[in-house]
Amino acid sequence: MEFTIQEMKERKVHRLALVLSYLVIVTRGNDIRSINHGETTSDIVTGLKINKFIEMDGGDIFDCVDVNLQPAFNHPLLKDHKIQMEPSTFPIGMDVELPSPHHTISQAQPPIVSCPRGTVPIRRNNIRNHIASESIDEEIGKDKQHEAVGIQYRHDDIYGTRAIINVYEPKVKNGSKDLTASVIKIYNGPGLVEAIVAGYLVSPELSGDNFARFHVAWDDVIGNKSCYDHTCPGFVQVSHEFGLGGRLRPVSVYNGPQYFITVMMFKDPKTKNWWVICCQENTPIGYWPSSLFTYIKDKGETAFWGGRVSGPTASEDSPPVGSGHFAEEGYGKASFIRHIQIVDKNNKYVNPDFNKAFPSTSFSGKFTVDGYGVDNYGMHMYYGGPGNLSRQ
Ligand SMILES: *[C@@H]1O[C@H](CO)[C@@H](O)[C@H](O)[C@H]1NC(C)=O
Ligand SMILES: *[C@@H]1O[C@H](CO)[C@@H](O)[C@H](O)[C@H]1NC(C)=O
Ligand SMILES: *[C@@H]1O[C@H](CO)[C@@H](O)[C@H](O)[C@H]1NC(C)=O
Repeated sequence: MEFTIQEMKERKVHRLALVLSYLVIVTRGNDIRSINHGETTSDIVTGLKINKFIEMDGGDIFDCVDVNLQPAFNHPLLKDHKIQMEPSTFPIGMDVELPSPHHTISQAQPPIVSCPRGTVPIRRNNIRNHIASESIDEEIGKDKQHEAVGIQYRHDDIYGTRAIINVYEPKVKNGSKDLTASVIKIYNGPGLVEAIVAGYLVSPELSGDNFARFHVAWDDVIGNKSCYDHTCPGFVQVSHEFGLGGRLRPVSVYNGPQYFITVMMFKDPKTKNWWVICCQENTPIGYWPSSLFTYIKDKGETAFWGGRVSGPTASEDSPPVGSGHFAEEGYGKASFIRHIQIVDKNNKYVNPDFNKAFPSTSFSGKFTVDGYGVDNYGMHMYYGGPGNLSRQ
């Protein structure tokens, strides 16, 4: 099915009629008040029915949007999509207690947004809403220059993957359109054009600041663009509490306390939808419906675990990856990804095939991989580096 940006905008205009009134809850001061807005707020941009919005400690605002009217359903291919509220099954081995990477390490937390059941939290992005209200569908992130460091994995049948990612907050300069990310990724197609990704990003352009935030993203082959979270339609959220684009806290400190997240993506064996799960309690956040895809409809054949920088000056003047220190510094100083496994055709977590995995860096003067190996719980490595930081 063909569609154009113009048609998508028209659909949104229709939805404006649904805009009603809002209840504001300011969680910070336990102060609950009701406000009736008759006019322009950011929901005009997305044209969604918003029951209320929630301001988090730190100022992030999430709109609680009816789960059946969330942005995903503006996608023409999802017009008649029947929402799946939970995975039909989980990969075998998901419940295996993973050994802690280190006895002093703890989990970084995404924000828990208390949207009512039947709604999902959608982060309001102030910058994009103010500057780019008409071009919310425009391409972001799929930008020009690119460096990557981590494990490339090829020529296998991949029905999912999981990893533990050490969370740092590599600094990206204010106002820069470059980003730094640490992610798990499954992709395929000619030129590996089609991808799903989950992990943390520091992207001033996307979020208006340089904090580490949890994001999902996918490359939309049909629409020819990269999409984060709910910035363009496609990702169907089911969790009423998980705030995509929310800050992960605490973040690790070089030579100090370390924090991590557990991230998984897997294909639902019944519906073929690609689920994303993160963080404590293994919360299913939502999924990409299989109908969105061309080359990873049934499975992926390529995966990547590691860091990358991209943007208009990401090679010329690369931001750091991970802790900003080279992999050789090891635990507590260099960032790690470990317990890397893939889901096989029997819907089971297994170790990746050593012969199909290639630890690599696109530029060893900026980023490195070290301590690469495999144990009972999967592959692991240290990765990262300063980029051009020393010159900044
Ligand atoms: C850069 O970031 C700092 C700290 O986050 C902030 O105080 C400052 O206003 C920012 N500058 C610009 C030009 O955005
Ligand atoms: C995809 O978009 C890019 C830049 O926006 C453009 O250069 C390219 O021709 C497009 N490709 C297709 C197949 O439409
Ligand atoms: C960043 O590093 C690369 C490779 O060392 C170098 O070619 C480039 O000039 C550097 N850029 C800046 C702005 O220092």
